[in-house]
Amino acid sequence: MESFNGAPPALDKSQISGAPEQWDRSGLPAWAYTNHEQLELERDVLFRRHWQLAGHVSNAPEPGNYFCFDVAGERAIIVRGKDNEIRAFHNVCRHRGSRVVVNETGTCGSAMVCPFHGWSFNLDGTLRTVAQPKAVPTLDPVEHGLVPVEFEIWHGFVFVRFQPGPQPAVADILARHEAEIALYRSAEAVPTRNSFWSQEIGANWKCVRDVDNEGYHVPMAHPGLQDLYGNNYFDEHWQGGTTRSFGPFKDETNRLWSVRAYNSVLPEVDYLPESHRRAWLYIGMFPNQVLYFYPDGLGFYQEFPIATDKTVLRGGAYGMPLSEAGDATFNRHIRAARYLSERIDNDTAVEDIQLTVWSNEAAHSSGFQGFILSDLEYGVKQYHDQLRAIMPVLRQSEPPEQGCLEINNNKLLASLAPE
Ligand code: FES
Ligand SMILES: [Fe+2]
Repeated sequence: MESFNGAPPALDKSQISGAPEQWDRSGLPAWAYTNHEQLELERDVLFRRHWQLAGHVSNAPEPGNYFCFDVAGERAIIVRGKDNEIRAFHNVCRHRGSRVVVNETGTCGSAMVCPFHGWSFNLDGTLRTVAQPKAVPTLDPVEHGLVPVEFEIWHGFVFVRFQPGPQPAVADILARHEAEIALYRSAEAVPTRNSFWSQEIGANWKCVRDVDNEGYHVPMAHPGLQDLYGNNYFDEHWQGGTTRSFGPFKDETNRLWSVRAYNSVLPEVDYLPESHRRAWLYIGMFPNQVLYFYPDGLGFYQEFPIATDKTVLRGGAYGMPLSEAGDATFNRHIRAARYLSERIDNDTAVEDIQLTVWSNEAAHSSGFQGFILSDLEYGVKQYHDQLRAIMPVLRQSEPPEQGCLEINNNKLLASLAPE
């Protein structure tokens, strides 16, 4: 059985850099993790008004293929048209608002047929037919088509935004990572699982992000990752709504069989430079998603609030298509590497979920007196700063009076706005 006992290895001092001498190490107030009005505000100003990673173009590879994406009461359908173009619409029937497609992924042939009364929509969203047309007034197919959702495709990843928000285009947000991510050819990737994975956990969504925004816990909590890259791992600070973490593999014999096997089976991926052939790369994007890039595959993970103490984790995994006509040994090794990296990730996810649940419990405890963040958790503070800028009510140590949170927040925003 794999286990990790004893004290975490000493940290490389060169990694503790960038944080100022003096900074507020206390984190968000505990009430921010338990307050229902705060969650409603977050659902609106963060999840509806910021770019959300819905999936990848390869989740809808053929005309008529679609995938769905639900968040904060909104629901989108991303569908590939007859012209091979990807489009995004609200998954809301124009008749009475039913879901037009029900499954998370699927194919709808040449039209999307609403399961409630049978109105149908073309793949470009226009209204195609209504059931029993003599009973329905004549409707303009464009005007009464599915309502479009703003979307953007970046290196194969499909982002949607349900309401206008403060962020620039996805390509602008991620521009500083463009050259590095282009190495991985993610636009050509295909799913390596049947569809998306998701899991509900019992914690506030910000606890998930707090855990994910620092690598300080890796030596103690993640034996697999510590064995894989250990102190080589480094979190860069948040900048322009993104963060980058890079973990070049350790140059020593691994202790855990899964990591040892992964390291030994991982082939040379010749389209990557030497620096990225034996390393894992993570790009975080505000407010709730991370893109990851491994030599053997790539993907994303994210979290969505369901309630103050209930969160859905979701993600997708992709890899370069393996040609049957290609090198059989390479293909076999890549498949084994994908199995093993997924196994290491699954162990890491179980460990992170436990830390997240414990963090959530802390926010409910009368003994919790705020964080004392280390310099290696400066990313947590930087992330909280981004939340405080959008929701200045989070600067208050005590929650606003019941029913007043949004009003208080709007007043604070108005007082902080430039003249
Ligand atoms: S709600 Fe879709 S056809 Fe009636
Ligand atoms: Fe972690």
